[in-house]
Amino acid sequence: MNGPSTLHDPNEIHKPRRGLRAVLESKKHQRQPFAEYRRFVQHHYDGIAGKLTHVTGILTGHAVLAGRVFRPSGFDVRGCKRILDAGCGNGRYTKNILRWADPDALITAFDLSQSMLRRARRYLKSSRISHVAADVTRLPYPDNFFDCVVCGWMLEHLPDPLPGLRELARVLQPAGKMLLMVTEDTVTGAVCSRMWHCRTYNRHELRRVCDACGLEWRRPLYFTRIHRVFRLGGIIVELVKR
Ligand SMILES: C[S@@+](CC[C@H](N)C(=O)[O-])C[C@H]1O[C@@H](n2cnc3c(N)ncnc32)[C@H](O)[C@@H]1O
Repeated sequence: MNGPSTLHDPNEIHKPRRGLRAVLESKKHQRQPFAEYRRFVQHHYDGIAGKLTHVTGILTGHAVLAGRVFRPSGFDVRGCKRILDAGCGNGRYTKNILRWADPDALITAFDLSQSMLRRARRYLKSSRISHVAADVTRLPYPDNFFDCVVCGWMLEHLPDPLPGLRELARVLQPAGKMLLMVTEDTVTGAVCSRMWHCRTYNRHELRRVCDACGLEWRRPLYFTRIHRVFRLGGIIVELVKR
C-alpha cells in the first residue's frame, strides 16, 4: 500500500514530551540517521538486551500477560489463515498465536535480529511457523498476503513509524486485522524507552499514523482492568485495514 500520507513532518508524529517524561525518554533514535540507529537496534538485540528479554518478560509479567491478549474476548485470531508476527523477538507472541489460531493457520515470524530468531526457533518448534530475517520497512511479501498481523513492541524502534506501519498495512489484506502494541508516553513508558533505547507514542499521534496507513482503530485492549485504570502496559489496539 503506497497511499498518500497526510503526515510529512516528523514532529507531527512525535510531539515533544514534557516534564519527567521528557527527561526520562530515550533520545537515541533522534541523534543519528535511521540506518545507523537500526544497526544499533540490531546489535542491541543480538547482544545482551536480546538475552535479557526472557528474564525481563518474567519480571515485568509480560510473559504471562501476553497470553491474555489473545483470548477470544480480546484479539481473536481464530479464523485467520496466514498470520504475521512482526518483530517476533524470542517468540513470546508467536507462542500465543499458535495456541489460539486454527490448526491449519500458518504463522510467519520475522525479526531484524538473527540472534532473536535463533532464540525463537529454539523456543518454538512447529512446522506451522516460519522464521524469517527481515526489516519491517522492506518486507519480502506481496500486497494483501496476510489476513492477520501482530506487531508487539517493535514500532517504537522506528523513529518515524510511517514506513514500517505502511509496509505492515501493505501486506495485510483489506478487512484483515492487526494487533499493534507500542510503548506509551507515560512515565513508565519513558523508563522502558530508556532501557530499550526506543521512542514512545501517545494515543493521539499513533491513531493519526494508523489512519494515514489505512488502518482503522477498532478498539483499545488492556492486559487487565488494573492496566486500564492506571494506564499501564502500553498502547494495545486492534486495527482493521480499510
Ligand atoms: C521489544 S522486542 C519485542 C519482541 C516481541 N514482539 C515480544 O513482544 O516479545 C522488539 C523486537 O523488534 C525487533 N526489531 C526492531 N526493529 C526492527 C525492524 N526495523 N524490523 C524488524 N524487527 C525489528 C528487535 O530485533 C526485537 O526483537
